[in-house]
Amino acid sequence: MNSVDALDVKREELRQSVINMADLSTIPVTLKRILEIVDDENTSVSDLVEVIEQDQSLSTKVMAVSNSAFYGYGGRVKSISQAAVVLGFNMIRNLTLSVSLFDTSGKDAYEFLSQLWRHSFEVASVSALLADRTGLSRKDNAFLAGLVSNIGRVILYQVFEKKYLDIYDSGNQDVMAREKATFGATHSEVGAWFAEGFRFQKECILAIEDHHSPEHLISNFRSGSHPLVALVYLADVIVSADKTGVEVDITVSPEHNAIMEAVYLDDESMKEVQEEYLAFVQSTKDLF
Ligand SMILES: [Fe+2]
Repeated sequence: MNSVDALDVKREELRQSVINMADLSTIPVTLKRILEIVDDENTSVSDLVEVIEQDQSLSTKVMAVSNSAFYGYGGRVKSISQAAVVLGFNMIRNLTLSVSLFDTSGKDAYEFLSQLWRHSFEVASVSALLADRTGLSRKDNAFLAGLVSNIGRVILYQVFEKKYLDIYDSGNQDVMAREKATFGATHSEVGAWFAEGFRFQKECILAIEDHHSPEHLISNFRSGSHPLVALVYLADVIVSADKTGVEVDITVSPEHNAIMEAVYLDDESMKEVQEEYLAFVQSTKDLF
């Protein structure tokens, strides 16, 4: 078998693992239960609420998301059952599924998953902020898309554990190329498979798929792609700036200005969003 064929085999094995994640022996119990519930079309919202309430760490994260200042219900959601009513079944389903992937129980990568959680929460918040400023997307949809834009990194960790962490041992340069060479696919592809498998909205799947492909993003945008994809990309650039290690995901690309212009943002607006983001980081530093 030549190296291209071997990579294709790895890729297909990984795709199957992502689609059938609930069958993996490596994943935590609550995550397994959530995956089973959301995959069952007969599930009711009360099944979901019950599992969330039984897991302290998951409840805390779902409440933090529901009450995020940028999500739209800031401080008004007092319980998981209320979150399910206020957010609606689809949104609570997708949020819970995404949040449960960050489960650290039984894992020794608390630091890695915590940093990724903070990064994802911040990208979600800035995506919602950009949606609000541009009026080009609903804030809750933008928040969810930002939250899951790097879900592929979390999934790769849940599937491969330490082997995935080794990718970061030699720094965060060329992470995408190393993911492809080691596992047969990048975290953008893996995240998109997952979101597709669990029937997330098309714009959300595209935001995951294209967040490291600005050239593809801009050409898709010109042919009518949803602006949310661009908002999530810009949010990730803002959040990754001045960071180190796992918290750096993307840097400014040659297409950056064209992407800004496509969603009617100029340097001044971006600067204001950046300032709002820095104030947000300051106000939430005790949350993480
Ligand atoms: Fe990424």
